[in-house]
Amino acid sequence: MSNPLRDPRDRRLPKVPGPCALVVFGVTGDLARKKLIPAVYDLANRGLLPPGFVLLGFARRDWGDGDFEQIAKEAAKKGARTGWREEVWQRIAEATKFLPGSFDDDDAFDQLAAMLKDLDASHGTGGNAAFYLSIPPNAFPTVLKQMERTGMADNVQTNSWRRVVVEKPFGHDLASAIELNGLVDDVFTADDVFRIDHYLGKETVQNLLALRFANELFEPIWNSHHIDSVQITMAEDVGIGTRAGFYEGTGAARDVLQNHLLQLLALTAMDEPVQFDAAALRAEKIKVLDAVRLPKDLASYAVRGQYDQGWLAGERVNGYQAEENVAAGSTTETFAAVRLDVDTRRWAGVPFYLRTGKRLPRRVTEIGIVFKKAPHLPFSKSDTEELGANQLVVRVQPDEGVTLRFGSKVPGTTMEVRDVAMDFLYGEAFTENSPEAYERLLLDVLLGDAALFPRNEEVEASWRIIDPIEELWASGGEPELYRAGEWGPKGADEMLARDGRTWRRP
Ligand SMILES: NC(=O)c1ccc[n+]([C@@H]2O[C@H](COP(=O)([O-])OP(=O)(O)OC[C@H]3O[C@@H](n4cnc5c(N)ncnc54)[C@H](OP(=O)(O)O)[C@@H]3O)[C@@H](O)[C@H]2O)c1
Repeated sequence: MSNPLRDPRDRRLPKVPGPCALVVFGVTGDLARKKLIPAVYDLANRGLLPPGFVLLGFARRDWGDGDFEQIAKEAAKKGARTGWREEVWQRIAEATKFLPGSFDDDDAFDQLAAMLKDLDASHGTGGNAAFYLSIPPNAFPTVLKQMERTGMADNVQTNSWRRVVVEKPFGHDLASAIELNGLVDDVFTADDVFRIDHYLGKETVQNLLALRFANELFEPIWNSHHIDSVQITMAEDVGIGTRAGFYEGTGAARDVLQNHLLQLLALTAMDEPVQFDAAALRAEKIKVLDAVRLPKDLASYAVRGQYDQGWLAGERVNGYQAEENVAAGSTTETFAAVRLDVDTRRWAGVPFYLRTGKRLPRRVTEIGIVFKKAPHLPFSKSDTEELGANQLVVRVQPDEGVTLRFGSKVPGTTMEVRDVAMDFLYGEAFTENSPEAYERLLLDVLLGDAALFPRNEEVEASWRIIDPIEELWASGGEPELYRAGEWGPKGADEMLARDGRTWRRP
């Protein structure tokens, strides 16, 4: 019987998913250890996993359940966000299984299909399962075909729900993304496919929607009448580390611009969704991505760079070319900046500058909304010499929060106006820590809530924007070097200078 005191539309109380198994393909890999297993622990610790929950790991290594449990425990302890409680882990451990096998091994997949059936009887999973593909992208087709062959993906035949979680990269260009989407769609229905862009799981990214659509203050000025330009930055201070194998064929534009930055652009530029659900959000995001226009003079407005040796945090670091397993003369970009325009009435004439790079001075992701100057200043020029443009900055990470920069009178007898900042910090305003992005997204998968997951159309629209840039870069030339510890190559500054603007220094 439903609780008469509880309004079913009240979303404040956390929802607990129904019984299910989480099958992680590639459970011994880096992502599973660093993010997925800790997220499972954190969810269990918060009471957000159902009693009939089973974690089932699949990978090549010949491990037994006990070996896997030990490794998983270490990973959970190391990566957990919430405090350690042995009794919580014990409950997970009792419902943890490991199945060794290679992706081309039919027997292993037959065994997995049988196991999923048995788990319903032994652990009450209701036959429900989410399959997480935490595996090298080239293994996707084999694993999907195995799932199709064994009927594992079929929620009609199994009379339960079956979902798949796909990690980025979602292809490496439009053609390969269409091919991959086709493959996934052959096996799963569209509503059962969850593509992870972990940026969308971040509290601050979701707060962008609250900031814009739950307040009266910002929306009336959220347009080309008041906004001069938008700058979206994702900077990392680290280099590529040991990931040359992945990074060499990818580069900054495919790795970050195509997904995280274009998703941030879409959320910044979109109109209000008619309601806060997956279909309505997607409809608005897609309109923005479809309206994105590349500059005519793309060569001047798509800048790529590669880090050279330099100093970061008092330490001497190698240039990209000297990193382990990087090919001599590699032209892979570790920095990408581009100007995009959004051809809608709201954004006509407002450039969106996107940039991302490795070995930049610090790790920061932010959306900077730069406002136009006041049309008239009743002060003398010298009074406002120190006054910059008003800015609203959404800090995605770290120091999650929002900053508003505006002019204020300097105390004293003269009328001198200078920029000041007003800060909202998540860590100070709320006592509860934000969940990790993977924790939030994994929960949404198990609940079947797709609001924070990009769909095929968004992925394909994003590649339509990135492909011409990649084609231009592939046609010749090489990235401009920038010293590690600096904010990218000179070309990026020149790009904004050409438009009479400068980058924010986050
Ligand atoms: N790592 C990250 O931070 C990160 C971030 C974003 C996206 N991703 C994406 O997440 C996915 C996984 O990345 P990862 O870094 O975790 O990769 P990884 O460390 O290389 O792990 C790959 C996993 O796949 C298993 N595997 C590979 N080939 C197999 C085969 N033929 N049969 C059975 N198992 C096989 C491996 O098992 P064995 O160990 O037993 O060989 C291992 O568990 C990739 O698509 C990646 O692009 C990763």
